[in-house]
Amino acid sequence: MEAADHLRDTALMPPAEAPTPLPDDLLLSEAAETGRASQALARLGPAIDAFHAAHASGPFVAYERPVDAVTAGPVPEAGIGLDAMVDELGALVAEGSRIGAPGFVGFITTGASTGGAIGETAMAFAGGQRYTIHAFNRLEHDSLRWLAQLCGLPDGVTGVYSSGGSTANLVGLGSARQSAFERLGFNVAEDGAPAGLRGRVYASELAHRTVHRAAAVLGLGRQAVRAIPVDGDGRIRLDQLEAALAADAREGIVPIATVAIAGTTDTGSVDDIAGVAAIATRFGSWLHVDGAYGLIGNASPRLAPLYAGLELADSWIVDPHKWLATGVGVAATFVRDEGVLTRAFAEGDAAYLEGTFTPHDAPAVSQFDRMNGRWADQSLELSAPPRGVMVWAVLREIGRAGVIARVDRHVAYARRVADRAMANPRLELLMEPQLSVVCLRYRAPAGTDGDSLNSRILERLRRETGQVPSSTVVAGRFAIRPCYINPRTTLADVDALVDAVIRFGDELTGVGAGGPG
Ligand SMILES: Cc1ncc(COP(=O)(O)O)c(C=O)c1O
Repeated sequence: MEAADHLRDTALMPPAEAPTPLPDDLLLSEAAETGRASQALARLGPAIDAFHAAHASGPFVAYERPVDAVTAGPVPEAGIGLDAMVDELGALVAEGSRIGAPGFVGFITTGASTGGAIGETAMAFAGGQRYTIHAFNRLEHDSLRWLAQLCGLPDGVTGVYSSGGSTANLVGLGSARQSAFERLGFNVAEDGAPAGLRGRVYASELAHRTVHRAAAVLGLGRQAVRAIPVDGDGRIRLDQLEAALAADAREGIVPIATVAIAGTTDTGSVDDIAGVAAIATRFGSWLHVDGAYGLIGNASPRLAPLYAGLELADSWIVDPHKWLATGVGVAATFVRDEGVLTRAFAEGDAAYLEGTFTPHDAPAVSQFDRMNGRWADQSLELSAPPRGVMVWAVLREIGRAGVIARVDRHVAYARRVADRAMANPRLELLMEPQLSVVCLRYRAPAGTDGDSLNSRILERLRRETGQVPSSTVVAGRFAIRPCYINPRTTLADVDALVDAVIRFGDELTGVGAGGPG
């Protein structure tokens, strides 16, 4: 009997019920290629090199929506095959995201360095699930340890990766919620939040909105996040924090977590972590450090004093996809107490898991003899790639020294913008930079609207130059806000941005050209 006949007869359906026999090629072939990886990569490679080269300088070209040509219409009936698909991808690469271009300094995001992207590629082919025992999973483990060391976290912390700071904050604050209610005798992960008890999270008014979303998802509600005012340097006001905790304690509100921000999104300010820790301890609150952007800064001995007290926290998050430029999709949460993390996020027993989530000491013979790591019980995901491979790849490539050099260079870039803004009477520095975010604006002539002038300057930067910052509001005033985390940005880009702000400001206000920049 032919193999196809055998399959048809034994595995699929009884012949009597199959009016038309299934064609042999359906039983024996598969449309997707699962080999020829080096050919596919080689085919795509030149397009990626051209993409990088095209972004070395010059304005960002208009987005032409070339994707319409290949996606318009219904799902294709017949596939075009691997080579043709890779060629279409190669054409689209040219119109890909500009976040990795040297002049892109908007938000807190950047593209992958080559090492990070190569790590991700290898991971996609060979990493598979992070929960079985294999080399890439081991890299995930080791990179968490490296990351904790790099960021100056205490020995013995437990880390888990997720897709970004949003999820990482949720994991940290979910652990905090578990801990806070356990101390009152309730297991919220098992039984839900106890009736009649209100919980609160304390964070500065500059807290990232993912903190509020985490509170919403955790059943505390966005309104449970108490916005504490900041001082002139963008740091949480300790007197106000203490007053808020004291007032809530009098009302019996449960302090779920106090958040210290190690690098605010708007201004890059680092809260006084030791000061926040002292207050959190006094009121029995979990201390969570949101270092999605800035925790990597603690790798630099020059910046370390800003992070004093970091070791006192209960949980920390950091986004390697920001300053480490791994490529987007990697954040880490670290907690001091592994038990509370597991109790908060355990998936629970199921027959199909074969009890393998319980780690045991017997040597594994097969990759499937046990789960490698307790990720599935310590985060929101069961299936997940070992994202830490991207972190491992970057740290293996550039080492601690490479990270420190990048951080110090980027902080120096922000300082240079600040110095130029202070030296030029036509510019204003809105806050002293602490990390690599700097907020400046063109000084509007008396009686004119500086906010709208500077938003027009920003619009011209985006449309006419390769220098693309984003904006924020500092003490009620619109600010042009470059954030330097991009490995490709150069000092020339930094100066070009300041020059362009001056030039556009001069043009828009009718001030004559010239004068020192
Ligand atoms: C301080 C802070 N926390 C959390 C986040 C959210 O991170 P993600 O965009 O990776 O979800 C950000 C993003 O910029 C951030 O700056």
